[in-house]
Amino acid sequence: MTAPTTFAIDLPDEAATCALAADLAGRARRGDVIGLSGALGSGKTTFARAFIGARLDAGEVPSPTFTLVEIYQSLTGPALWHFDLYRLERPEDAYELGIEDAFAEGISLIEWPERLGALMPREHLGVTLALGQRATERRVELAAPESWAPRVAGLKRG
Ligand SMILES: Nc1ncnc2c1ncn2[C@@H]1O[C@H](COP(=O)(O)OP(=O)(O)OP(=O)(O)O)[C@@H](O)[C@H]1O
Ligand SMILES: [Mg+2]
Repeated sequence: MTAPTTFAIDLPDEAATCALAADLAGRARRGDVIGLSGALGSGKTTFARAFIGARLDAGEVPSPTFTLVEIYQSLTGPALWHFDLYRLERPEDAYELGIEDAFAEGISLIEWPERLGALMPREHLGVTLALGQRATERRVELAAPESWAPRVAGLKRG
């Protein structure tokens, strides 16, 4: 595998984060795995929900009190699997959550992907959020593997 293409984008406010998530959602396809990294409160869940909302047919993303995984069925495309693995104790525990089905058939959004260790597919889009100077500022670094490189080539950087 060649090294991923990495670049950063400034996100001045939450709307910018959600717009980027929706944009990437439009470029995603069955089997994609997206890792969402970054500190507590950096915006991983915000990003995931905007991504899911952009792909769902009904608009609003229901707000479940989920712990580790929530699955959103789409009428028109692959299901969206939203994992929050902060509390995952061992990588192997993720099999019970359905990671094999998610990786094969769905589009997977994974908060705290480092918890999966070697079970995290190498071929994934890395999204790392960092806090900025002001309260609403974030900076995101994207690490695009080969399959994603052409799909992120047109994104505005900086
Ligand atoms: N530019 C921005 N992008 C994303 N979220 C922002 C931005 N500016 C402010 N916020 C706020 O920051 C918070 C991010 O919380 P969120 O739950 O998405 O973080 P998280 O990375 O999932 O945290 P955790 O590690 O606890 O799961 C939200 O309250 C959101 O409204
Ligand atoms: Mg979160």
